[in-house]
Amino acid sequence: MVVLTLNHPEINKEITMCGIIGYAGHRPAVPVIVEGLKRLEYRGYDSAGVAFVQHQGLEVIRAQGKLCELENKLGGCDAFHATTALGHTRWATHGLPVERNAHPHKDGQGRLALVHNGIIENYHPLREMLKNKGREFVSDTDTEVLVQLVSEEWSKDTTLLQAISRALAQVEGTYAMALINLDEPGRIWAARKSSPLLLGMGTGENFVASDIPAFLAYTREVIFLEDNELVELDALSWKVFDVATLKPLNKEVHHISWDLQSAQKGGYRHFMLKEIFEQPQVIANCLAGRMDPKSSCVLLPELDDLPIPEQIQIVACGTSYHAGLWGQHLLESWAKIPVRVEIASEFRYRNPLFRPTDLVLAISQSGETADTLAGMRLAKGEGVPVLGLCNVVGSSVAREADRVIHTQAGPEISVASTKAMCSQLVLLLLLALYWGRQKQTLPRETESQILRGLLGLPGILEAELPRMRGKAQELAQEYSAARSFFYLGRGSSFPLALEGALKLKEISYIHAEGYASGEMKHGPIALIDPEFPTFALAPSDDLLPKVISNLVEVQARNGRIIALAHPGFDLAVDHVWSIPEVYGPLNTFLILPALQLFAYEMAVYLGKDVDQPRNLAKSVTVE
Ligand code: F6R
Repeated sequence: MVVLTLNHPEINKEITMCGIIGYAGHRPAVPVIVEGLKRLEYRGYDSAGVAFVQHQGLEVIRAQGKLCELENKLGGCDAFHATTALGHTRWATHGLPVERNAHPHKDGQGRLALVHNGIIENYHPLREMLKNKGREFVSDTDTEVLVQLVSEEWSKDTTLLQAISRALAQVEGTYAMALINLDEPGRIWAARKSSPLLLGMGTGENFVASDIPAFLAYTREVIFLEDNELVELDALSWKVFDVATLKPLNKEVHHISWDLQSAQKGGYRHFMLKEIFEQPQVIANCLAGRMDPKSSCVLLPELDDLPIPEQIQIVACGTSYHAGLWGQHLLESWAKIPVRVEIASEFRYRNPLFRPTDLVLAISQSGETADTLAGMRLAKGEGVPVLGLCNVVGSSVAREADRVIHTQAGPEISVASTKAMCSQLVLLLLLALYWGRQKQTLPRETESQILRGLLGLPGILEAELPRMRGKAQELAQEYSAARSFFYLGRGSSFPLALEGALKLKEISYIHAEGYASGEMKHGPIALIDPEFPTFALAPSDDLLPKVISNLVEVQARNGRIIALAHPGFDLAVDHVWSIPEVYGPLNTFLILPALQLFAYEMAVYLGKDVDQPRNLAKSVTVE
């Protein structure tokens, strides 16, 4: 077996994490597909394409760049008669994001068109084998290998369903794929392995897609396809099969209750701004049903018969990792459970040590992050229970974890994660309260103050957010010329400093470093000068005197300072951003949106593409 690694020097292998959609129904299919692709653009947006059968021909129209480029192209075509079509929006890390690599891809005979999200790892030997059989390739992609492989199997006197099954049996790697055939223009075949794929069932129309918003305007009835399942559908029927045996499978239909509006901008200029402003509601949603009014303790029925772990290993990436670092403080100080927090991409290759009494806590908004999933699988393989903290119902983390707590943030569309982190922090706090109560390590008085404070938090935040935005706008103008920023924090503000820096980097492209304030004098302070400002997290906690002395050191090097602080902060810095003070760790829920709004306003002021920053995609389904 030859497994081609992602950075193998000899291959120009396309690596995608993409959005796919297929429609079979009674409407002109191409507009439905384009609309669906718009709702999947968060999954990737460097090229897009559609395929459909019309006037006895299999048409594929693709364009490099954002979806509007494809729309422009479609505007000049006759593409409105087909009632079945496929679509794809792509994000590539290797292989140029050029039109010839955009999906859909056709087989050599032009009878099949296929869209794909994932990586065919053994694409190289398959390609060589197919070349030896006389097949020619016009792209650099592994996807073209897949469609040619299906075509090759189909040429051996089988049904197309059997051919797909036989082709997929030869494939190593991951895929969510959908395929159409010139000879059966109303039908779609789709299958998945380790990449998300859903079936949406409407009236006289059916869909497959990578995510629910793609078809939510048309139907709320959904089936979550599992790995190694293959679906055949047309406008009026659908059937799910085991991909290897082709035995029909019974599937549970889920009803989706959230509406399309909640996946749209709701009057805000950007999804990111809308999602920041949704945080009061997110906090309220996370708390709903989680507090017992009689005993005023936290309810987490998901954990009821799970033994209290002796050690927790948190595994996550990016913003979710920062949430984990913050949760570590509370889990250790309230529940007295030792916690290690690991970057999933390191954890999975580090041979981590487990004890049978450990718990792995996988935190992921999307539930599809490849490294986090790999970390989970590693732990499961060692017999360690895995708890998933995840926002997307039916996602891989949610399905594969032994237990799952859903974070109730609702769909997060902006690439930069904001409200999802807020929801993760609420649930981490509830976890620490829950185990703290069970272990009797948390004073009742602290517990009830936290619970009271939590209930009041949405109202306080709701009132404060517009003021915060005003201040963020003012500071963005003042600091927009900076090319670098320090974010400093101590204690539980340190993970927030990391998060503030990440937000600024990813959407405004300004270099930023999150640092533990006490580490500054061990090297980084050498960078400070009037051009290198510092964003200091200086809430009124036990560590404030230490933070102040760190800031004095920055001032002594002529560094400019913004201090995010509580009323009463009395160091004379360039800008004090005063926010209301609430109880203990709940202050985080006011610090976090201030950091998010500052990054947002900087990016807007600098004219950046806030919701779709360059080089990024919403869910990182490749390692
Ligand atoms: C940053 C951001 C990313 C994600 C990371 C993990 O704003 O969104 O750093 O937090 O890619 O994603 P999930 O939480 O979906 O596993």
